[in-house]
Amino acid sequence: MGVMDGKKGAIMVLTDRYAVFGCPIKHSKSPRIHRLFAEQTGQTLGYTAVEVPAEQFRTAVATFFAEGGKGLNCTVPLKELAWSYADRKTERAELSKAVNTLALLADGSILGDNTDGIGLVTDLTANHGIALAGMRILILGAGGASRGIIAPILEQSPQSLVIANRTVDKAVKLAAEFHDKGKIPITGSGFDDLENRQFDLILNATSASLSGQLPLLPPGLLAAQGSCYDLAYGNEPTAFVRWGLENHAAKSLDGLGMLVEQAAEAFFIWRGIRPKTRSVIELLNSERQP
Ligand code: ATR
Repeated sequence: MGVMDGKKGAIMVLTDRYAVFGCPIKHSKSPRIHRLFAEQTGQTLGYTAVEVPAEQFRTAVATFFAEGGKGLNCTVPLKELAWSYADRKTERAELSKAVNTLALLADGSILGDNTDGIGLVTDLTANHGIALAGMRILILGAGGASRGIIAPILEQSPQSLVIANRTVDKAVKLAAEFHDKGKIPITGSGFDDLENRQFDLILNATSASLSGQLPLLPPGLLAAQGSCYDLAYGNEPTAFVRWGLENHAAKSLDGLGMLVEQAAEAFFIWRGIRPKTRSVIELLNSERQP
């Protein structure tokens, strides 16, 4: 939309504004990704990263939308707060109890969605050719990151799902919550209970990964031709990606592809156009420092 700027007498172009809120947010790749998507699809929009501490979240979001903002991504530690903020939510957001995408709807209400799980599944299946149907899947961790990926994984009809966590009780509760969502066995356990078990796909959703730590995992846990996926990513291979390589994983991947895919899904919600992700993933991959 073009409007006259009274002072300068020039035409100002009002671009649709988007942002990612989080704390910390300095190293976020989201502005880069969304600008690449916008360029690729010929969309005119602005996307910035804003540091918002949890206690300022509600005010910051209200101000953003009041000032004409169209959509937000929310990251650590704001996803649960975004879930509470949304006027209405998609089913996958309801189930994950976390929202990473807020969108202004035509009636002025705010929709909350969670695109993390579908981002992971798309990266695994479309980008890496790892079909989840019939697989024995293990998720490490029972926090917010795990909760966000369970429903989209169940939709892929794996053979079974085990959620293993340091605090066993949390894994058992999380498994019970999703019990009637899939027609497959879903169990919660501790890491010790994994002895003599085998999995075709192991997903690391613990926050330990970010500090280079790993739960102690028994040898033989990964089946022959099995794959590993760390939801976290870094410039260098994470501790879990290295564990996968040491344990002869067919593929041992980190979460950079998931990051781009969850962003593509958010872009689609906001703009109604699905950007192509391959070239963006390749670009970000090529920029990783050795
Ligand atoms: P997120 O939203 O990233 O999932 P979270 O809800 O705080 O963050 O959950 C962090 C997860 O990482 C939990 O499953 C946590 O295990 P506990 O429930 O036992 O705390 C797991 N985690 C964090 N540090 C860990 C470590 N050093 N070893 C194993 N698991 C760890």
